[in-house]
This record gives sequence, structure tokens and C-alpha cells, in this order.
Amino acid sequence: MSEDVTPETVPSSDQPLESRGENRSQRPSSAAFKEFMASGWGPRPGVSTEPGPAAPHTAARRERLGAQFPGQRLVIPAGAFKVRSNDTDYRFRPHSAFAHLTGLGVEQEPDAVLVLHPDDEAEGGATHQAVLYVRPPAGRDSEEFFSDARYGEFWVGARPTFDDLETLTGIRTAHLDGLRDALAKDIGPEGVQLVVVSGVDEAVDAVVEEIRAAEDAGESDARLAEALSELRLVKDSHEVEQMREAVAPTIAGFEKIVAELPAAVAHRRGERVIEGTFLGPARLEGNYVGYETIAAAGDHATTLHWTDNDGQVRPGELVLIDAGVEVDSLYTADITRTLPVDGVFTEVQRRVYQAVLDAADAAFAVAVPGAKFRDVHAAAMEVIAARLGEWGLLPVSVEESLSPEGQQHRRWMVHGTSHHLGLDVHDCALARRELYLDATIEPGMVFTIEPGLYFKSDDLLVPEEYRGIGVRIEDDVLVTADGNENLSAALPRDPDEVEAWMARLSGRSA
Ligand code: GLY
Ligand code: MN
Ligand code: MN
Repeated sequence: MSEDVTPETVPSSDQPLESRGENRSQRPSSAAFKEFMASGWGPRPGVSTEPGPAAPHTAARRERLGAQFPGQRLVIPAGAFKVRSNDTDYRFRPHSAFAHLTGLGVEQEPDAVLVLHPDDEAEGGATHQAVLYVRPPAGRDSEEFFSDARYGEFWVGARPTFDDLETLTGIRTAHLDGLRDALAKDIGPEGVQLVVVSGVDEAVDAVVEEIRAAEDAGESDARLAEALSELRLVKDSHEVEQMREAVAPTIAGFEKIVAELPAAVAHRRGERVIEGTFLGPARLEGNYVGYETIAAAGDHATTLHWTDNDGQVRPGELVLIDAGVEVDSLYTADITRTLPVDGVFTEVQRRVYQAVLDAADAAFAVAVPGAKFRDVHAAAMEVIAARLGEWGLLPVSVEESLSPEGQQHRRWMVHGTSHHLGLDVHDCALARRELYLDATIEPGMVFTIEPGLYFKSDDLLVPEEYRGIGVRIEDDVLVTADGNENLSAALPRDPDEVEAWMARLSGRSA
């Protein structure tokens, strides 16, 4: 029989849990220390700013948005720091709608909120006055300066002042402390309606909810989110320039990967070698990458979002690399190439690769002004279904497979062929169907063309020779007045050109 054991009560400390994080820093709290820290500094170095190149474009974007919401106050937060774990945050990345309307980019500007105030008397017939509410740096005589690891300039370096941000964005700035009153002004059933991009900044959501509860304001938030997405469907000249800036270092990254393939083969986690080879130069060029790099060798290429990248890279197999540099302005490329690890395609690899390339070329041919966005996918699918039919893989005829009731060919390519691209890798995601999938293609649109074929190693419906082969070819396309431009054309796509390019970069003769 076991004895009853009463656990001893462990006495807890009087120290509240919230202050435990201060245990390690042992910062002095004496008045003498605080006074001493506030003294003896030269002129504040500040942030060097000049008008941002996006400023004229962002003003036009704000006007186009405002015109859709007359009399409504629009609230577009940048977002707040997000905790990664304990007291460390993720690197700050502003919400894309905020970046689009302010021109602010990498690391700019935590907690800031762009408000478009309805204004009948705004200059030039504009419907709204823009104000950027920001948290300015505290003076060196403040405790924040030396004790706040998130905002204190002693910890995070020079932060922009009101003037800096006004110069950079061309938008009037005001203190974040005034945001609540500014949002609440004239709100009411007969007055101004408050519309917010919700889910971006909890503090802003709470303020908006409180103001609305008091005044029963309207429910147009979804319409605003949609309008912000739709505003980016056609890129302006500055955005196209940014896309080119993102594509160029992405292409350079792919070239570096080819040169490093022998090192990847030699490493037990060769996929990580590829990921790291792309990431290093990307980090030098811009913020980071626009999404997690996919470095998928062999059968991993048949897992559409393979981002573990912890596998081996073996000669004789293919490696699928889907990667994009995101530049300071936060525009990202999104490019995929599928390469033979040892520089030469096998016969069956080439057969699958050529089918995907033909599907991509068919999609390019219809991605022109006047066509429907959905035609691009349809053109690619006709080729994919036809090839699968030729190879005897379809359980029905090609026509039956292409019919809405069939679609058996999609087993081997379940994803779409194209998505808009820009500040988000899947840009404009909240646009209405009639302006996206069912829309007519227009000059200035930027989207991907990325057909693929993926035969999983355990797919018993394909002959053994196809199993473990995954191929995707993804390019970034700008629609022009009379056709399209492949922004990523400098990266070889044709299998012979891929082999010659790989031979050149790895020092072998073609
Ligand atoms: N890299 C994600 C995509 O291609 O959509
Ligand atoms: Mn894509
Ligand atoms: Mn991609």
C-alpha cells in the first residue's frame, strides 16, 4: 500500500511575473544615474532623409482610394512589433497597404497609422487629407532613450522625427497620442464614418471599436480591404521599376546557386546550402526574401511548399528552386527554375520539363491586353492535359479531363498558373473575382506564369520512371500596351539553354 504524499508547497516570490525580465539587466535606478544619462550629448545625429521617389505616386494612389470613400475616415495602420518569443520581436514589416500608400518600406514605421480624413475643401479636388500618426523618438533626457529596448535610440539607433517622415513621404505627420481624438472627431450616424483595415494593429482595432460602440459607426471595413487590394492590380511606373529592381538580384541569386551546386551535393543538407546561397546576397540587396525560399531536390520538389530545405541534393536528380528577393520598398520577385543537379537533364526529366515549358509558353501567348486573366491558366492547362494524355496517364480523354466535370489532369498540378505579384508575393489577394480571375488583362499588370508537373514518389498511377520528378518554371510578367514582357527572361528557361548556362557558370564547357 502506498502512503499518501502531500506535495510541499513551494513558497512563491513576492516579485510579480511581469518584472522578472528585469532580473538580468540590473539597470541603476538612482536619480543621479538618470540625470547623468541625460547629460553630455552632442547634437542628435538623426536620420538622413530626402523626399522618397515614391512620394508623387503615393499621393495619386491615396487620391484614387479616397475617391471611392467620400465622407468616410480611412484608417490604415502599419502594424505593431510582433513578439517572436519572450522579449524578442520579429523584424518589423509594415502592412502592404500602408507601404503602398506611404512609400515607406523596410522597418518603417512600427505603430504608425495613416489616416485619410474626409475633407470637402482639400486641394485640387481631392476628397481626403492624409495624416500620418507616428511615435516620434523621445529626447535624450527621457528614460525611454536609454531604457526602452524597443524604441529607445540608445538601443535601436536613430529613429525618424516628424520632419524626417514628412520629408520622406510628403504626408503631414502628427503625434500618435492624438490618434484617438482625431479618429473620434465628428463620428456618428449623421457624421463621419470610420473605416479601418482591421487585424493589423490590435491597439488601433481597440480604439476604433470603442469609438464605434459609442457612436454605432458603419461596417465598411471589408470594402476598404478589397479596395486596397484592387488599387494594386495595375502597377504604376514606380512599382514597375521596383519589380525590375527585385528581379535583377533574384536572377543573380540563381546564378550563385548554380555555382554552389557542387557544395550543395557535398553537404548532408544540400538544400540548406542552396537556401543560404540565395539568402546571403538577397540580404545584401534588400530587406530579405519576399517569402520562404523553396529549395526542393528530388521528390521534395513534388511537395508544393517544401520550405524545410533539410534534404540532400543528389546528382542525377532535379532541384526545384522557388525564390524571390524583396527590395527595400518591399516589392518582391517570385521566380522558379528546376535544374538538373549535375547540369544535364535525363531523357525523362527533359520530357516532363519540356511539357511544363510548352505550357508556360502557351500561357505567355495569351497573357496580353484584352484577354481574360483566367485564359492564361486555361492555355497552360490545355498543354498539360494534352501531354498527360499522350503519355497515357489520364483515365479519360483529354477533352473529358479538360471539362469542368473532369479535371483529372489537375492531380499533377493542383495549383493555379498565375497570381498577381508586387508588395505581396500573392498580391491583390482580396480583390473581387471580377477584377482578378474574371478580369480583362490590362497593361501595367504584373503576375506570374508558373505551370508545373509533380509526380510524387508514391504515386502508383504513373509509371515508375516519372515518380519523384517535380518541375515548375515560374516567370514574372509585365503586361505591356501590346503584349507582355518577361521580367525574368534573363534567366534561361529552354532546357538546352539551361544546360549551357549551367556549364558556363560551373566552369565546364557546354
Ligand atoms: N512562391 C510562391 C508561389 O510561387 O506562388
Ligand atoms: Mn508564384
Ligand atoms: Mn514561386
